[in-house]
Amino acid sequence: MVDNSISESTIKPTDLRGILKYVPMFREQIFVIAIDGSLVAHENFQNVLLDIAVLRSLNIHVVLVHGAGLQLRNMAETSGIEITNPHGEGATDAQTLELATEASARVTLSIMQGLSRNALRCATCNGVRSTEVGIVKGVDQLQSGKVDKLDITLFKQLLDSNTIPVAAPIAFNRDGASLRLNSDHLAAELASKLNASKLIFMTTQDGLTLHGAPLTNIPVAELETLLEAGIENIPERLLSKVQHAVKAINAGTPRAHILDGRVFGALLNEIFDKVGIGTMVYSNDYQSIRQAIPADAYSIYNITRNGVRSATLRDRSKESIEASIENFLVYEIDGSIVACVNLQTYDDGAVVEVGSVYVQPFYQNRGVGRKMVKYACVEAERRKAKRVIALTTQSSNFFIKVCEFSEGDINDLPKERKEDYTANGRNSKILYRDL
Ligand SMILES: CC(C)(COP(=O)(O)OP(=O)(O)OC[C@H]1O[C@@H](n2cnc3c(N)ncnc32)[C@H](O)[C@@H]1OP(=O)(O)O)[C@@H](O)C(=O)NCCC(=O)NCCS
Repeated sequence: MVDNSISESTIKPTDLRGILKYVPMFREQIFVIAIDGSLVAHENFQNVLLDIAVLRSLNIHVVLVHGAGLQLRNMAETSGIEITNPHGEGATDAQTLELATEASARVTLSIMQGLSRNALRCATCNGVRSTEVGIVKGVDQLQSGKVDKLDITLFKQLLDSNTIPVAAPIAFNRDGASLRLNSDHLAAELASKLNASKLIFMTTQDGLTLHGAPLTNIPVAELETLLEAGIENIPERLLSKVQHAVKAINAGTPRAHILDGRVFGALLNEIFDKVGIGTMVYSNDYQSIRQAIPADAYSIYNITRNGVRSATLRDRSKESIEASIENFLVYEIDGSIVACVNLQTYDDGAVVEVGSVYVQPFYQNRGVGRKMVKYACVEAERRKAKRVIALTTQSSNFFIKVCEFSEGDINDLPKERKEDYTANGRNSKILYRDL
């Protein structure tokens, strides 16, 4: 479970070397960070700002979107004014809009003050045009709005001049009238229209769990299935974030994260740590990869023959492939299998060996091998393995330089595999990647 107590000792330190690895990958990319109003009011918010300063120092462009639900609720309580809803998820009447405008302005100011304290340039702008939500299921949503149009040029100009745009959940419509937006919706729209590489929701909620365990990463299709199965799987206050994460990914944003911003260092840990502390939802980069079925055995046997002939792959008979077909993943293009990989489990599932990685020569150097190995690692992680190993005679640099494996020795192998390694005499290089 993601621990909510603000205890630094429970957080894995994100080491500098780990961060540096990601610097070229994220440089000049855009992260849209949506911050709940409750987090702005939380004592850890100053640390969140420091984390944002680190992102900026690595040349990552940041767009901040904020909510104001907590502040609105507090103001309503103090003033005794009844509001239609605190979180921008239903109708907004005139007095709620008035209070929400004030609450939002206060939150914007707090954020800008915090960014200024960290010497970060920021600006608000009128780059979001809203339009009325209208009537939903027979109920007039009054002054609740949705994004009508985004002035992408304006946002890009701000980002290009090293300025963090701060977007509030109140935006003007065509006639200049204010409407109240749901901040998760606004963030998702901004992420997809700005081609952001990440949409990050920061909350003051426990992270998502599945069957009692923290949900660290999930493909978008599976999250959609969970949503369809019933929203009772998802805590009420996270539902809007989950729904908008799915929308953003389906609109082209590769990754969305939901994390508990009360945890010290949550943002940097989530981005720069292999596992992270929140939930990462990812688009299906791997749609060409599937589990092999018995009918694939002959194709796998045929395509791997070349590798066996050149002694890059171990010889496997057609019968042995058939017998262990469920251990193979295949990469399919236009109905033909162009690559395969075998996943063998050791030590009660703690170690997975990625073997028989083969890409047909015509398809080599197009990123297929990298995707297969990456997917195999994701799959191993989902099976709760702690380490992935690979043994190779001629492709050690592919695993080390392209797939982030490290070179090991015989002591890095599980016992059962050690015996086989010594017996087969192939003298392969031993590579591993801890998950
Ligand atoms: C090794 C193999 C799986 C790589 O797959 P691929 O789809 O061609 O590789 P990708 O397109 O994903 O990656 C290309 C990168 O890998 C590098 N690469 C590919 N094969 C390599 C090798 N044998 N050694 C070192 N680097 C290699 C390329 O130089 C390129 O690097 P760059 O991105 O810095 O330019 C593929 O070449 C293959 O099937 N080889 C024969 C079988 C084999 O050796 N399998 C591994 C044993 S388990």
